[in-house]
Amino acid sequence: MGPLLRIATAGSVDDGKSTLIGRLLYDSKTIFTDQLAAVERTSRERGADTPDLSLLTDGLRAEREQGITIDVAYRYFATPKRKFVIADTPGHLQYTRNMVTGASTADLALVLVDARKGVLEQSRRHAFIASLLGIPHLVVCVNKMDLVGWSRERFEEIREEFRRFSIKLDVPDLSFIPVSALLGDNVVNRSAEMPWYEGSSLLHHLEEVHVASDQNLIDARFPVQYVIRPHQDFRGYAGTVAGGVFRPGDEVTVLPSGFSSTVERIWGPGGREVAEAFAPQAVTMELADHIDISRGDLICRPNNRPHVGQDLDAMVCWLTEQSELRPGARYTVKHTSQAVTGSVRELDYRLDINTLHRDESAAGLALNEIGRVRLHTRTPLLFDPYKRNRGTGSFILVDEATNNTVAAGMVLGPRVAASHVVWHGSAVTRDQRATRGRTIWLTGLSGSGKSTIAVELERRLVAAGRPAYLLDGDNLRHGLNSDLGFGAADRTENVRRTGAVARLLADAGTVAIVSLISPYAADRAAVRAAHEAEGLPFVEVFVDTPIADCQARDPKGLYAKAAAGEIRGFTGVDDPYEAPERAELVLRPTDGDPAALAATVLAFLDR
Ligand code: ADX
Repeated sequence: MGPLLRIATAGSVDDGKSTLIGRLLYDSKTIFTDQLAAVERTSRERGADTPDLSLLTDGLRAEREQGITIDVAYRYFATPKRKFVIADTPGHLQYTRNMVTGASTADLALVLVDARKGVLEQSRRHAFIASLLGIPHLVVCVNKMDLVGWSRERFEEIREEFRRFSIKLDVPDLSFIPVSALLGDNVVNRSAEMPWYEGSSLLHHLEEVHVASDQNLIDARFPVQYVIRPHQDFRGYAGTVAGGVFRPGDEVTVLPSGFSSTVERIWGPGGREVAEAFAPQAVTMELADHIDISRGDLICRPNNRPHVGQDLDAMVCWLTEQSELRPGARYTVKHTSQAVTGSVRELDYRLDINTLHRDESAAGLALNEIGRVRLHTRTPLLFDPYKRNRGTGSFILVDEATNNTVAAGMVLGPRVAASHVVWHGSAVTRDQRATRGRTIWLTGLSGSGKSTIAVELERRLVAAGRPAYLLDGDNLRHGLNSDLGFGAADRTENVRRTGAVARLLADAGTVAIVSLISPYAADRAAVRAAHEAEGLPFVEVFVDTPIADCQARDPKGLYAKAAAGEIRGFTGVDDPYEAPERAELVLRPTDGDPAALAATVLAFLDR
């Protein structure tokens, strides 16, 4: 059986949505017989000679999720090929709110269009919200085809109009199916009335749509919800996997502390030990080391971390009539397993869903309105863009006074300097400058000899009349990076900033020599990519001195302190060093003294 398909539907009352869902259930013979008998009885009592299938889905109970009361009815059904769950959001005024809250985990959105009325404002809204929520598959059912004489022209007209609108949206997979929910054409069975339509019926399409690859299996994310500590010897971390795969033996990093460990065991549902865990499984993890972890922390892989920050850009949908979103207001931000205080610093614009026009003069957001905001939180959040991860990329805003949920938000990314900043090109090209620059990036453990080699390299280059400038990690931490510590996020920022300065120097025609532990492969890769994007040569030099040698040298006495527990999170001791796998150059102490190694680098540059 294929993976479960989560479907979100939306439509207004007379689009025939309930009838369509009822028809799906009825024709796929999955309705429970007692329910069916009740429907037939009620229909007869009302004087109808065919069963009113909308009775199957209307009037279902409302469900509570994330503390939000939402009018979403969930319907489960199955065919021999697949299991389905339909989140049906009623089409009254609150539909935006309901869709945002009920449809956020859907794989596929079903949008209904009445063939007589064509593409209405509502259909556009639904498609827009589906794309905003990142629902990868969108199926447009052009319904009531029987009432337009099964007209192929009418179907194609609607399809074209919808397509034109959806070009502006981010919908990877868009399909159109002409149906008559009332008569059952193309819902489960192919229609005899529309031989011109060569596609599949709705049910067949739902059975076949490929969703396995929509899952993010790359970015391992485990927000810790509870620390389970029944006795001294057991410490488990319970939560729901929000992305990627975790297996016993995996090296992991805990954020925000940055401490590393390995996964010892994973306990699945019912307390059974499992060999792997992936989203959206709820599991309990045990780590090899006893690290101080609390609710709201996040377990990930050392070289694939979420953003850590207090300022982010997000799209928010306002969910309440009681108040409006106002810039400056304070809220509780609920994000993964954390709740922190935050404020909306700015409303960049309010979006008109029908025209996709951005109103930058809007003062606030009212019920159902969507806008782009800048959010600031008092403590850092561990987040990903919503597009990459719906779990770590979404949040809700709760009114501190009333405790009501007032908005649902989707993270666009960390706040970039300012949206009104544009790149200003220079009138000088690189060729016009006297010299060509580049970046030589020395990475390695503390005490590996990076700085000694770097100093010698700078001396030789300058002596040869070549502009060179040394950016030494310890020195930069006295100025540019004096606000940074040695936690994972700070090291990442340290590397990012230093990389940015190196790029400027290289662009100016100087050889930027960087000497930085830069322990994380992903951070170095980002600097490399930024150089390559600008056509600047980047030479990664791995100063591969074994840790035993570094410890023996211990020029600053730091290894001794780390061993004594006076320094925590020391690279190579209790914080990881991820050795480069594709460095342009590897320097080992057995290859010569620092002067000889500097000469090796020079020779490489001259090659
Ligand atoms: S990096 O990890 O962020 O790239 P950077 O190269 O700037 O580090 O600074 C490393 C230097 O800071 C080391 O040479 C050492 O002198 C000092 N230091 C102090 N605490 C630590 C620590 N916990 N881990 C590594 N180096 C540390």
